[in-house]
Amino acid sequence: MYQLIKKDGKAKRGRFTTVHGTIETPVFMNVGTVAAIKGAVSTDDLKEIRTQVELSNTYHLHVRPGDRLIKEFGGLHKFMNWDRPILTDSGGFQVFSLAKLRKIKEEGVSFSSHIDGRKIFMGPEESMQIQSNLGSTIAMAFDECPPHPAERKYMQDSVDRTTRWLYRCKKEMDRLNRLPDTVNPHQMLFGINQGGTYEDIRISHAKEISRLDLDGYALGGLAVGESHAEMYRILDETVPYLPEAKPTYLMGVGTPANILEAVDRGVDFFDCVYPTRNGRHGHVYTNHGKMNLFNKKYELDHRPIEEGCQCPACRSYSRAYIRHLLKAKEMLGMRLCVLHNLYFYNTMMEEIRDAIEQGQYREYKERKLSGMENK
Ligand code: GUN
Ligand code: ZN
Repeated sequence: MYQLIKKDGKAKRGRFTTVHGTIETPVFMNVGTVAAIKGAVSTDDLKEIRTQVELSNTYHLHVRPGDRLIKEFGGLHKFMNWDRPILTDSGGFQVFSLAKLRKIKEEGVSFSSHIDGRKIFMGPEESMQIQSNLGSTIAMAFDECPPHPAERKYMQDSVDRTTRWLYRCKKEMDRLNRLPDTVNPHQMLFGINQGGTYEDIRISHAKEISRLDLDGYALGGLAVGESHAEMYRILDETVPYLPEAKPTYLMGVGTPANILEAVDRGVDFFDCVYPTRNGRHGHVYTNHGKMNLFNKKYELDHRPIEEGCQCPACRSYSRAYIRHLLKAKEMLGMRLCVLHNLYFYNTMMEEIRDAIEQGQYREYKERKLSGMENK
């Protein structure tokens, strides 16, 4: 259940209630693709850095260790020891970006696993069954994420199929939630809007999926190669056609600047691999922009990554020491950078929520953006 607490311009401050607890929005979900936040981050760490939602992937967990195994263990929450909300992506995007030799038909997609080449078939029903076995809090609808750029005819046909798949997802989830041995009988479903950069296709699709009473609505197929300006234009044009009384989720986005701009256009949920992936490469976020800790100028720098930061890395260690760990390829180096980056994102979301509550979102956004040299 989503409660809209306050609006400031188009920016929404909301509260999303689930069986696994409450999510204060806008929120950044911390990405743990294979039910692990890369960089040796534990679920205790996630609590310390105030993570609200963890995100995992249907496709990866289906391939390894298998969703049946996870169901038998008692579900994903129990398996990874995380009692707060989990969102699972449907496999749609991962099948299109990772799997080899895929073939799309009306029923679904056939492909070979990126791990062992094994032939797999996934359609809307299979994706819902896997996500039901995982017992995630929020399941994503099975969609096609079309490439960018795509011909108009391809895009329209793909979006029409994604709509038919959405109806099948809803029907299958309703059936699965009623089965006696379901891991999470209260599993929620978010639909996904597609249409690339064709605003008329986006809008008619948004209207169409809004008629289904889903728990939330995502924008997919963005940040796939189009410019930031085009992505913002699509948000300007599409978000007004998605239900305001439901959460809006911009999938796979993005940089701090992307998030600040998307919140200003009415987006509530985000996820992105940037803070974890960049952290593992020694790239850390600060209020002055991103810094590369491999840079020689930090060799004898006694300061923390960011002065005043209360994350586990900045509370105890210098830039010089973390730089040394990274250069020596010590796991602790990556871990500290990832913790700092996730803490930076989680803290920025708290500031965003405060700013909206105080009716000062625009001022906050401009101040934050002007402080960062490279966004
Ligand atoms: N993650 C980023 N973009 C997408 C998308 O278009 N669809 C899905 N399912 N996941 C995504
Ligand atoms: Zn820090």
